[in-house]
Amino acid sequence: MTVMAFNGSPRKKWNTATLLEKAFEGTASQEAETELIHLYDLNFKGLISCFACTTKGGKSYGKCAVEDYLAPVFRKIEKADAIILGSPICFGTVSGEMRSCMERLLFPYLTYTDPPQSLFPRRIKTGFIYTINTPGERMNERGYLQLFGLHEMLLGMIFGASEHICSYDTYQFNDYSKVVSGRFDPDKKAKRRNEIFPIDCDKAFGMGARLAGRK
Ligand SMILES: Cc1cc2nc3c(=O)[nH]c(=O)nc-3n(C[C@H](O)[C@H](O)[C@H](O)COP(=O)(O)O)c2cc1C
Repeated sequence: MTVMAFNGSPRKKWNTATLLEKAFEGTASQEAETELIHLYDLNFKGLISCFACTTKGGKSYGKCAVEDYLAPVFRKIEKADAIILGSPICFGTVSGEMRSCMERLLFPYLTYTDPPQSLFPRRIKTGFIYTINTPGERMNERGYLQLFGLHEMLLGMIFGASEHICSYDTYQFNDYSKVVSGRFDPDKKAKRRNEIFPIDCDKAFGMGARLAGRK
């Protein structure tokens, strides 16, 4: 059992990366092997509309033909038993690198047929971990639940059962007094970091354990 995860934050020790590591503790509890890819370490672009993956009889049919730093990662995905994507929300959607990775990861497996079909050879579990400044009670009005639902639908269609967790109102800086950030109350942020973030870590652990579970 191998679980692969992608960190879509440029930061390797902050909210998103921490939750991904907690998820890996959950997968380890099921004796799964893990690999974490920091997307910001890799040199790659999003989809380039070459359509090699959709060309009838083409040697790259159903696979991304672009041979860059994502190519070996995608070859490992072919053999993985579960995938976890993790991203901060940036300007209302996932980070740029996560978005580019998702275009490359998803498009080759989804046919332009009616109904669309998945070319991914197996059914595997997937999970998404989001981190976001917005408080939980404002998620719906800002359209984030729709975004999460769309990703869940796409991942579910292509790979198999998908779930997500979201850590709201995250602690974003080591020292709020050094940053122009008057919108935020540093004490409330610190309180949330101390009291709620550990609960989010437990949720990530649970997700990791479920994704690595045999059932
Ligand atoms: C460039 C940028 C854009 C952001 N845009 C949003 C946003 O649109 N909505 C939001 O709620 N938070 C936004 N945030 C906050 C991050 O989503 C949040 O702090 C996240 O937990 C950071 O993840 P990290 O700690 O793993 O880097 C933004 C942060 C950055 C750096």
